[in-house]
Amino acid sequence: MLKAEVIRDVDDTVVTDTVLIDRSSYPRAWIYSDAEEYYGQMLRKKNNIHIMLRDHERRVGFLFAIPHNEAVAELEDDDPLMETDSATYYVENVAILPGYRNQKGFSQMLEILRTELRKRAIFKISMHARVSNNVSKNIQKNMNILKIRRIDAWGYYNFEEPTDYIIAAWPDGKEKSR
Ligand SMILES: CC(C)(COP(=O)(O)OP(=O)(O)OC[C@H]1O[C@@H](n2cnc3c(N)ncnc32)[C@H](O)[C@@H]1OP(=O)(O)O)[C@@H](O)C(=O)NCCC(=O)NCCS
Repeated sequence: MLKAEVIRDVDDTVVTDTVLIDRSSYPRAWIYSDAEEYYGQMLRKKNNIHIMLRDHERRVGFLFAIPHNEAVAELEDDDPLMETDSATYYVENVAILPGYRNQKGFSQMLEILRTELRKRAIFKISMHARVSNNVSKNIQKNMNILKIRRIDAWGYYNFEEPTDYIIAAWPDGKEKSR
């Protein structure tokens, strides 16, 4: 059975496992060579939230979220239409090893994120959601969509696929849907 939890103490094994899961989840051409360095720094930043999914002792998935405004700064060249909003967290990446998908791992990690964000009085998330594997559709099915905008060729997918930029709230969150 899969179990999701927030990682409070990030050590090198967490970084290595995160990079391994990332590398196993995307086409080779999309993988960044500096992933180890990127996650080594980013996972340790105080306001960032790293959730990992385990099957017993094995780490099999993760969801990584950062304050939305930091994403706006990070992505200013890739998506200049993003607007600042200090009451939102941005889901930077979510990935589960192929053998552990379709077992509600994504739902579980989102639920843990929701609990963690509630403590910070945050009720909205933003993300660039992949279209080809229905992540965007699943978010639309399960959450209140406050904003959605299609980008036809997303740089982080090597310009090979579209993404939906989404701002969403949980159904009983404080934000009302459109
Ligand atoms: C994206 C990924 C993590 C999804 O993992 P998964 O375990 O396969 O998750 P599923 O797509 O089966 O979705 C699980 C369930 O979560 C549900 N879900 C989605 N958003 C939800 C939400 N906000 N609240 C509750 N449930 C939600 C889905 O509807 C689905 O439920 P269903 O089985 O009843 O339809 C996985 O496919 C993956 O790692 N892909 C490669 C990397 C990638 O593309 N990442 C996304 C980049 S945007």
